[in-house]
Amino acid sequence: MATDAQIKSLMGAGPPEHLEKLSLFRWGKKNPPKDPKISFAGKTILVTGSNTGLGYGAALKFAALGASKLILAVRTPAKGEEAKRKIVQATKYDAANIIVMQLDMASYDSVRAFVRDLRVKTSTLDVALLNAGIAPPKYTANPTTGWESALQTNIISTALLAILIIPQLKHTAVKTGRPSQLTLTSSYGHKYVAAKDVQTAPGESLLKKLSAPEYFNPEKCYNAIKLMTEYVKLGLVNNYSKNAKGEVDVTINSTCPGYCTTDLGREFPWYIALPIKVMQMYCGRSAEEGSRSLISATLLEKVGHGKFWTNDVFVEGGDLVTSDEGKKIQAQAWKEILDICKNESP
Ligand SMILES: NC(=O)c1ccc[n+]([C@@H]2O[C@H](COP(=O)([O-])OP(=O)(O)OC[C@H]3O[C@@H](n4cnc5c(N)ncnc54)[C@H](OP(=O)(O)O)[C@@H]3O)[C@@H](O)[C@H]2O)c1
Repeated sequence: MATDAQIKSLMGAGPPEHLEKLSLFRWGKKNPPKDPKISFAGKTILVTGSNTGLGYGAALKFAALGASKLILAVRTPAKGEEAKRKIVQATKYDAANIIVMQLDMASYDSVRAFVRDLRVKTSTLDVALLNAGIAPPKYTANPTTGWESALQTNIISTALLAILIIPQLKHTAVKTGRPSQLTLTSSYGHKYVAAKDVQTAPGESLLKKLSAPEYFNPEKCYNAIKLMTEYVKLGLVNNYSKNAKGEVDVTINSTCPGYCTTDLGREFPWYIALPIKVMQMYCGRSAEEGSRSLISATLLEKVGHGKFWTNDVFVEGGDLVTSDEGKKIQAQAWKEILDICKNESP
């Protein structure tokens, strides 16, 4: 458990207020987050999407900071094994304490099988960093469910995974006597969503609206997906974070690593990839720098419960999170997502 002083040490001044998007990115490059040096000894930690990018950066740090057991949940086991090899080589971490597990967030079957297997592989789970995500350049639908691919992977399957691992986090909290931690990788982009892009007519499904081919536009959808991440976080906080006595036994938060150079745009055609490359050179943090925010987010305990953490400060959610209208949209989104998750729970 981090001390109050340690938690305080994670906090910074944050960027100047009211910076527009590009200036905020530029500030972010010049001012990377603090690199946490707090021990994770005694903790079992799960990171999804940990073979590359921010998830890999975070896994490497968890190992360097002495986590007792590290679970790398990856879509392709060979990539996970390669990540494990690199982590062991870089940190001298005991290879026996890294478990690579297959998890395809595009498949409910895979999510359910992963959760079953996780219970076999570890009796405790102190920290879950749900980070796996995609940013598709063009519309694709999940072949099994029909939902738009990012909505499926980043939102619906992430919510299902969270709901299914929360019992294990709670079980661990009872054993350790302190809340376990669930952190979602979100984005500041959720603040840039226009209300009309998530408003629905009476009786209209929000998920169906977001999933329609004619709605698709890479940037608009990415931001809307991250708003949905904030909505899922709030749904989990309000419905899954407390024990029978009403005490918080799983602290839940979300974090934005800033604009980072990772593999996220790997599927973009050259004419989009090229300007992104230029943007990354001008204002992109490295994956290592961005992953610092993921690590610090998992250390915030009750201070960070329910909050959005970025650039070493807590930031209020956008209008579509805090306003009365935003709260109504959140309730609608959460109900639709929960209905699917209940249906898909074993
Ligand atoms: N980069 C940024 O500027 C930025 C900013 C804010 C938030 N984020 C968020 O940070 C998270 C990580 O992104 P990143 O930038 O590190 O991108 P990345 O380098 O592309 O890493 C994404 C990770 O997610 C995994 N993944 C994708 N689809 C999956 C699936 N169906 N099942 C299991 N794993 C899957 C990938 O596995 P494979 O390698 O096998 O595909 C990879 O490990 C995402 O949620 C992203 O939205 C990124």
